[in-house]
Amino acid sequence: MATESEISDGDQLDRELAELLEVERFEPPPEFRERALLKDPAVYEQASRDPLGWWTRQAEDLHWFSRWDTVLDDSDPPFYKWFVGGTLNVSYNCLDRHVEEGRGERVAFHWRGEDGQERDITYADLLAEVQRFANALKDLGVRKGDVVGIYLPMIPEVVVSMLACARIGAPHNVVFGGFSAEAVRERMEFSQAKLLITVDGAARKGTTAPVKDRVDEVMGGLPSLEKIVVVRSKGTACEMQQGRDVFYDEIVAAADPHCPAEALDAEHPLYILYTSGSTAKPKGILHTTGGYLTGVSATHRYVFDLKPETDVYWCAADVGWVTGHSYIVYGPLSNGATSVMWEGAPDYPHKGIWWEIIERYRVSILYCAPTAIRACIKWGSQWPRKHDLSSLRLLGSVGEPINPKAWLWYHKVIGGERCPIVDTWWQTETGAIMITPLPGITATKPGSATFPFPGVFAEVLDESTGEPLPEGQGLLVLTRPWPSMLRTLYKEEDRFIETYFSRFGRETYLVGDAARRDKDGYFWVIGRIDDVVNVSGHRLSTAEVESAIVAHVDVAEAAVIGQHDEDTGQAIVAFVTLQGTLEGDESTIEGIRGTVADRIGKFARPKRIIWADDLPKTRSGKIMRRLLRDIAEGRALGDVTTLRDPAVMGELEQRVSELQAQED
Ligand code: WT7
Repeated sequence: MATESEISDGDQLDRELAELLEVERFEPPPEFRERALLKDPAVYEQASRDPLGWWTRQAEDLHWFSRWDTVLDDSDPPFYKWFVGGTLNVSYNCLDRHVEEGRGERVAFHWRGEDGQERDITYADLLAEVQRFANALKDLGVRKGDVVGIYLPMIPEVVVSMLACARIGAPHNVVFGGFSAEAVRERMEFSQAKLLITVDGAARKGTTAPVKDRVDEVMGGLPSLEKIVVVRSKGTACEMQQGRDVFYDEIVAAADPHCPAEALDAEHPLYILYTSGSTAKPKGILHTTGGYLTGVSATHRYVFDLKPETDVYWCAADVGWVTGHSYIVYGPLSNGATSVMWEGAPDYPHKGIWWEIIERYRVSILYCAPTAIRACIKWGSQWPRKHDLSSLRLLGSVGEPINPKAWLWYHKVIGGERCPIVDTWWQTETGAIMITPLPGITATKPGSATFPFPGVFAEVLDESTGEPLPEGQGLLVLTRPWPSMLRTLYKEEDRFIETYFSRFGRETYLVGDAARRDKDGYFWVIGRIDDVVNVSGHRLSTAEVESAIVAHVDVAEAAVIGQHDEDTGQAIVAFVTLQGTLEGDESTIEGIRGTVADRIGKFARPKRIIWADDLPKTRSGKIMRRLLRDIAEGRALGDVTTLRDPAVMGELEQRVSELQAQED
């Protein structure tokens, strides 16, 4: 039961938030603007007049072994090349440069284990470990260009692994630790990984989940995969296959400590990251070296107004998603930042752990997802209020649209009304932040990502005419190439063109989101226009979940949609037809959810399963998900005349309303 003081505090907070809801724009606080790296709005104009000049200046902030001769080769769109002829190394930029310039003793990561264990890792520590591990990888036969899989939790070795790959020019393929071993196998197969780096076990809210054993169950019979490196993190017992498996600590101890960074071509592949698209097969987004690092480094510095000597920065994402790649690893390290890295969940050992960590390390910049903020709102403001959050000076949001209420709560309860909020819109494909406020310049509106970053060109196009809309709703596109853009889909060139560069031609990147511009030109990103669902900032394709569901023996057919959800943004709802005369019950539901957990990961399990005798299909047999979405959201049904059998809709509506009555 809530105490009296909590109740009155809640009411008062609600009143204060309601008042803030009236505020249309939040100007950067004068003290913030005064000290901001960028405070002159002319930067937008300069960058738009001469984008290549702007990006050149950003690239010049990096260390290059040899300078490029051409900034942008746009002779064969959409295959753009940036900083052509230049050579550099990402790990050199993230490590050696700082150590050589006397910053070796600076903490790169304050790592905190779920059990409270703490490790401070300096830039010099990281450089030493990365060199040894890079040599160990070479000793195991990894050569420049070989793909290395990484399936690790939030432990320092995941950063070491990524940088060691970057050092020797072996593109990494990181798979988020929440994916199942089967999903890892699939991604290793698609990318023909030669080696996989994984862990004995991972912390899961007070217990340890076996990881290596799960990997062993599925990883046999992959001809390309020669070696598995196992980090001993939790001391979980695991089998080691002779000739294939080695322990990380043993090979690192045996390796030569000196490994110079390879000078790599600006367009050398840095990594592949699989993400969900419209079909069941995930897309291998390919990022390269020079343009990517230019984009993430510049955006990290300016969007977060980073002062590396004094800031403590915390991106509370998982390194397995692009947010982690760009804004836990490459952006912050290239800028010499001190970061926090937290191994665990936001609600373990207690619901105030994030705020405890912020107080403990005096975090000044926090970057997280709206889902996390909404969860904190639900848990109550008494958790953050127990801690001193006065070190915070800037807040960021990423991954999904942030609703104004969550924005205002973040602003008031976490930011104490003194911290600008940067709502950053971007994608795995864009590599770096594309639409965002600049915290010392931009007046923000809660829920709007505001304007494109300098040097980025975005438009909202009318869906039918393809004409740019200065105001109104349409399709979001990027109209000029940018340095950190994906270069292709790994081994699927045609799909790359078809997905992003067919609707409006080869020079206009189709984002896949709907967006609106208001009378002041602000961008409001609404959500996906394709069959991609965003659950708690995790990107999933409906087709991917459907194919996992039909793998269950009792299932004949399934259709999956994303339904609006107060907590997770969207939730997975599955309409399922069972084989023959089977009747679905609780145990069938659990069985189906288990199959999805095995095939993809627990985060992809459907929240609701609705039994359907039949699914709404066109005469040609295509499932009409649009109608299922209408039903799930309780909207009036759209056009049903093209349905083969319109009667199925009545039955489904009935089922959904029964289920809703049960849940209420
Ligand atoms: C999709 C990309 C950005 C890195 C993490 C997600 C949605 C992302 C925002 C935002 C509204 C957003 C879009 C986008 N999205 N950020 N600030 N406001 N929507 O990367 O997994 O590739 O997902 O996330 O729908 O297309 P991702």
